[in-house]
Amino acid sequence: MTLLSATPAWKNLQQLADSVQSQHMRDWFAAEPARAEKFSVESCGIFLDYSKNRINDAVLQGLFDLAKQQNVEAKRDAMFAGDTINFTEQRAVLHTALRNFSDQPVLVDGKDVMPEVRACQQKMQQLVHKIHSGEHKGYTGKTITDVVAIGIGGSFLGPKIMSEALKPYWHKGIKVHFVANVDGCHIADVLAERDHQQTLILMSSKSFTTQETLQNTLTAKDWFLDQGGSQQDIALHFMAVSSNIKAATEFGIAEDNIFPMWDWVGGRYSLWSAIGLPIALALGYDNYQAMLKGAYAMDEHFKTAPLEQNLPFILGLLGSWYINFFGAQSHVLLPYYHYMRGFPAYIQQLDMESNGKSVTTSNEVADYATGPVIWGSEGTNGQHSFHQLIHQGQVLIPADFMLPLKVPNSADPHHAMLASNCFAQSQALMQGKTLEQAQQELQASGKADDALAQHKAMAGNKPSNTLLFEQLDPHTLGALVALYEHKVFVQGAIWDINSFDQWGVELGKVMGNQILDKLQDKTQDCEFDSSTNSLVERFRRTN
Ligand code: F6P
Repeated sequence: MTLLSATPAWKNLQQLADSVQSQHMRDWFAAEPARAEKFSVESCGIFLDYSKNRINDAVLQGLFDLAKQQNVEAKRDAMFAGDTINFTEQRAVLHTALRNFSDQPVLVDGKDVMPEVRACQQKMQQLVHKIHSGEHKGYTGKTITDVVAIGIGGSFLGPKIMSEALKPYWHKGIKVHFVANVDGCHIADVLAERDHQQTLILMSSKSFTTQETLQNTLTAKDWFLDQGGSQQDIALHFMAVSSNIKAATEFGIAEDNIFPMWDWVGGRYSLWSAIGLPIALALGYDNYQAMLKGAYAMDEHFKTAPLEQNLPFILGLLGSWYINFFGAQSHVLLPYYHYMRGFPAYIQQLDMESNGKSVTTSNEVADYATGPVIWGSEGTNGQHSFHQLIHQGQVLIPADFMLPLKVPNSADPHHAMLASNCFAQSQALMQGKTLEQAQQELQASGKADDALAQHKAMAGNKPSNTLLFEQLDPHTLGALVALYEHKVFVQGAIWDINSFDQWGVELGKVMGNQILDKLQDKTQDCEFDSSTNSLVERFRRTN
């Protein structure tokens, strides 16, 4: 099996990287007035300006050649066709079926899954209507005003972050609260302010084995009973989303209150399933469905657009360009929109739990870099914190800037200031400041100082993408999330890894349960390593 790093497309890109190392984007923009127009593309309401990248026509062609060499399009088609591409778990990868608005069937093991998908969506829609209309009442006859959504990872991040991002669309009269961490102060704080008579507990766990979620739900059940509810009242106040119906019913959730999900939907891809129920409860079902339709539009774009106009391919290939040929080890997401402050954390799980892998589909350890560290925060906050390193540090950190051109409740001068900062940051990263410019500035201020000028110079040539959208409505957000899902897919396909399992999270869970036994039963001897033993001992002495 030829190693990827020895293939023609890879070797061509290595040569191209060597050739552009000494070139500066400043000069390319000066030489090519139409550069921004050439390296911009728009689809599904998302405008992508990728001109501030260290690319030229030859590099872009080389990247598309890499995608072709790695059969990324065929791998994409296999995913949509329901092939068992998650081969270590023997599963299809079909989160796209959950937003399939065509009249085409989607087959898993020869069976069309669309009828059960649509039945579940109808069940979701009915619940949302009953809660919003007041038809579904608590055991004392009061309407439900609060939902406490309990889950973690993909059973938490999507619902919380997407509900937050779409705050302007929240349904009046219902508040959705989220609990994830097993740290008891989180659920305690949330429940302390709730009236159990008007609260619905919605527990989401695909496996129904996640320690944090089970414990938080047990605590919520104890709270409900302590507040005056009874066992038979549980049915009106507790619901669940899971693929493990048996475990959920054994836990005490009425079967009719369980929303199904399927093993061909990965946790980090599950907000399109009933895991997204908190979003539908927060926004109303129509807005939630608009998100699905936005994702569907991006699916169709990903499937049909030529590579040169294909947003997921362009973002995925640009990411690989810096990771594999410039040594970038992280990628920063900078949404310039307060309501999108959680978006980097969502993409963090999506990307790092998908492509944080080292073994290829040929069961060999890759001799090239794979998934990057994904991080970020809302703009403009990062400018007063970590942007310093991105501008003048020793590590290359490609950036994605995002900005809605209109926001519902931010009048100028606020919004124009936000936009000007967003545009200025990518401009400064690209242009930098030459030593001569720094020296001239100091001379002009009467403080000529060549030594100080060294500290004020900025290399520039720092790559970034800018994504603009008219406004962040549900359809656009759905398309944006699907764009990043497919970007992750493109990179995993280039690197020949399985982006859809997550064996790396299992060891910590097993060890956690072994240590928990020692913390809960102090009579047990500790036979761990000396560090873990001493940590356990300190905990035992204090509790
Ligand atoms: O441990 C990682 C993980 O399995 C994620 O992939 C998943 O989103 C999260 O934990 C929660 O899992 P579940 O929905 O099964 O509780």
